[in-house]
Amino acid sequence: MMDQIKIEAPAKINLTLKVVAKRLDGYHDLETVMQQIDLCDEIIIESVDEGIEVNSNNSEVPVAEANLAFKAARLLCERIGVTRGFRIFIDKKIPLGAGLAGGSTDAAAVLRGLNQILDFPLDLQTLLELGLQVGSDVPFCIVGGTALARGRGEILESLSLGPHLELVLVNPPLQISTAEVYHDLKLAELNDQPDNGAFLEAWYRCDIIGLAAHMKNDLETVSVVKYPGISEIKDRLVSLGALGTFMSGSGPSVIGIFGNRQMASKAWQTIKEVYQESFLVSSYIKDKGGIINA
Ligand code: C5P
Repeated sequence: MMDQIKIEAPAKINLTLKVVAKRLDGYHDLETVMQQIDLCDEIIIESVDEGIEVNSNNSEVPVAEANLAFKAARLLCERIGVTRGFRIFIDKKIPLGAGLAGGSTDAAAVLRGLNQILDFPLDLQTLLELGLQVGSDVPFCIVGGTALARGRGEILESLSLGPHLELVLVNPPLQISTAEVYHDLKLAELNDQPDNGAFLEAWYRCDIIGLAAHMKNDLETVSVVKYPGISEIKDRLVSLGALGTFMSGSGPSVIGIFGNRQMASKAWQTIKEVYQESFLVSSYIKDKGGIINA
């Protein structure tokens, strides 16, 4: 058994997010295209004698039950009946509470990393089941890449052969509660929902302009109305040459898609003067499954 593992945990954005129905269990059925981007936390897991301990370079990251990585580690250890302990360090680079699945991707990295440290006692299906108990976005973060997700987000169809995306991501200083956004959503009043069929056609044609036209998120009807700062960022990104803009998850992160890296970089240079948390990002390329050392 290895003693330590370092693993990348990439952020997730929703290229489209269509809310299909409210379920009896309080969640919503979605149809959403999820994409990993190359803005990553780094997770180091060390094997210790006993207990689960979580630390981070960012003091705002919770360190016990409220931390999804902690929850994931506890669930996995209980499932396998592990008697030893693990020390987990989260080097946080993904903004918190931004609609980027930062906590979920850390949890996914911990599930994959612990499974590897322990010599693969669990199959992928079981890891995905444990992940869903931690949060709706965790199964996608385990599978990674680009996927069309249904249900709560756990029914995943991986999309291959699509275009490489050049993006500028802006996270305004707003705290948005995902539960509150879903609660305030007026499903019956949605009349211009994302057309995932058209999005997928553009995806497989690698047609960036077509994609940009179909990047849309139903949750914007709540977050953009409540926080006008989000539309200001969208307008600014368009004036800087974005082909399309969209909010990720329940927000508040906003993303602009650009025709190439050079155009994205130019826009980023300008917008980061106004919004401190701005990032020049691309699609995440899965390399060695994100394991940095083994
Ligand atoms: O699963 P997760 O803990 O990330 O979800 C946070 C909240 O977002 C849930 O409590 C629920 O209110 C809402 N949600 C939803 N439908 C989804 C995902 C999340 O209603 N598919």
